[in-house]
Amino acid sequence: MTDLFSSINVGPHTLSNRIFMAPMTRNRAPDTIPNELMKTYYTQRASAGLIISEGSQISLQAIGYPGTPGIHTAEQVTGWKTITDAIHAQGGHIFCQLWHVGRSSHPDLQPNNELPVAPSAIKPEGGAMTLEGPKPFVTPRALTIEDIQQTIKDFIHAAECALEAGFDGVEIHAANGYLIDQFLRDGTNQRDDNYGGSVENRSRFLLDVVDAVSNVWGENRTAVRISPLQPFNDMKDSSPETLFTHVVKALNQYNLAYLHVTEMGAEAPGVAGPAFDLTKLRPLFDGIYVTNAGYDKQRGNKTIANNSCDAVAFGVPFIANPDLVARYESNADLNEAEPATFYGGDSAGYTDYPNLG
Ligand SMILES: Cc1cc2nc3c(=O)[nH]c(=O)nc-3n(C[C@H](O)[C@H](O)[C@H](O)COP(=O)(O)O)c2cc1C
Repeated sequence: MTDLFSSINVGPHTLSNRIFMAPMTRNRAPDTIPNELMKTYYTQRASAGLIISEGSQISLQAIGYPGTPGIHTAEQVTGWKTITDAIHAQGGHIFCQLWHVGRSSHPDLQPNNELPVAPSAIKPEGGAMTLEGPKPFVTPRALTIEDIQQTIKDFIHAAECALEAGFDGVEIHAANGYLIDQFLRDGTNQRDDNYGGSVENRSRFLLDVVDAVSNVWGENRTAVRISPLQPFNDMKDSSPETLFTHVVKALNQYNLAYLHVTEMGAEAPGVAGPAFDLTKLRPLFDGIYVTNAGYDKQRGNKTIANNSCDAVAFGVPFIANPDLVARYESNADLNEAEPATFYGGDSAGYTDYPNLG
C-alpha cells in the first residue's frame, strides 16, 4: 500500500518518502545571503522526501521582508550551493522556491525606496515588516507591459541562479497573495490589457513564468504552488472555483515536477471568495499532486491512500521536528513548535529542536 513512507518519482528524481518539507520563511539571512546557520537548519531536515526552500526573492524588487535570502546574485548562489551540497551528501533533495512578493512589500525594503509593484494600484489592508518594525502597506505601482517582461526576465535569471546553486528543481511561488497570485485573483488584478479581465488573461503571467522557468529547468523539474482559498495579504476573488479550475487545467498541459496546492484559508470559508471543495482540483491534474496545511501523519496517509494526493508538505511540524520522518515512522511524540521564533532571530527555535533520543 502506498503511504507517506513510499518512495516517489518527481521529475528525474527518486525521493525516499512523500513527507515533503513545506517552504518556510525564517528570516535568518540578514544580508540576503544563505549562511552556515541556514545550512545547519536545512541539513538537519534532509530526511524529508523533498525540502522546498523558504521563499527566495528573484530580484531586489521582489523582496518583502527583512532577512529573507535571495537567488539572484553570485554571493547568494555560493551560499545556497553549500546548502544544496550538504543536502545531497545526506541523500536528500531540495527545490528552490522562487518568490516575488509584488505589492506585499514597502518602500523601505525596495531599491531606491521605490514603490512596490503589482498588477494594479490597489493597496492591501495591513502592513509590511520593515527593519524599523511594522509599517502600513502603501499603494503599489501598476506594472507596465515592459515591466512585466522585465519581471519574467528576472524569473529566468533567478532560475539560472538556482540551477547554478545545485538545487534539484524550482517551485514557482504562485500562492499566498504574492505577485503571481495578485495577477490571478480579481480582487488584486483590475487590468484591462492581456494580463487582466478573463481568467485566461489573469492566468497569463503565471503561464509566462512557467514557460520561462521551464525553459531553464525543463518542465519536469519545475513545480508550481497555488493557494486557491488563502485570504492572507488581503486576497480575494469573485469565483475561486472558476479561476483555479482553469489554472489547474492549464498547468496540466505541462509535464510539471508537481503541483502544490496549499489548503490554507479553507478553514475560513468565504473570506477569500465563495468557498469550494478543493478536492475537486485533484482529478484535473494528471501529474504529482502535493497537498498541504494542517496535516498530520494519519490524515496524510489517509489522503494518499484514497488518492486525493501523492505527497504531503508539512510546515510547522518540520520547524519543531528536524527528524519528522523518523518520528512518524516510529509513532514517536512530536516536539511543540515555538511561534515566537518563527520569523528571525538566531539558532534558538531554529536549529536547537532536539532529535529523538
Ligand atoms: C514560519 C512560516 C513561514 C512560511 N513561509 C512560507 C514561504 O516562504 N512560502 C510559502 O509558500 N509558504 C510559507 N508558509 C506556509 C507554509 O508553507 C505552509 O503552507 C503552512 O505552514 C501550513 O502548513 P502546516 O499546517 O503543515 O504548517 C510559511 C509558514 C510558516 C509557519
